Amino acid sequence: MKSSNRIVLSSDHAAIQLRQAIASHIAACGWVVVDIGPTTPESTHYPKHGEAAARLVASGDCRFGIILCGTGQGIMMAANKVAGIRCGICADTFSARMIRQHNDANMLSIGARVVGEGLALDIVDAFLTAKFEGGRHAMRVEMIAALEG
Ligand code: RB5
Repeated sequence: MKSSNRIVLSSDHAAIQLRQAIASHIAACGWVVVDIGPTTPESTHYPKHGEAAARLVASGDCRFGIILCGTGQGIMMAANKVAGIRCGICADTFSARMIRQHNDANMLSIGARVVGEGLALDIVDAFLTAKFEGGRHAMRVEMIAALEG
């Protein structure tokens, strides 16, 4: 584990502005932000951005990943194909808290065309401040890992 305070951020073209707002917000909270872009608005392909962020989390380079696309759906699907990734999509703070407490999620996906900036920042805060509860949930998370074969 290289760093426990590093968060990778990634998105496609649909979410650049919200990704940058999240980057500023979490940096102000003391996290080291690894923003892997993109920075220009040309249309791009969410799977490669989801995968790139997921690999930094799976390798231990970053503790968490926050990824965004228009809906948050496609980039989440791509990230979850990488072994070791548990990425949940959230449009509410309850889910953001619960994917940490019960599912030990290591990545969060948000749809920039779904939620506004204020709610998105609250979702990020809920995700980053919640703690995995372990116990009966640990076995279930291990069962998810077992599906990776
Ligand atoms: C891009 O138009 C859009 O398809 C993408 O941002 C995302 O919503 C896919 O899941």
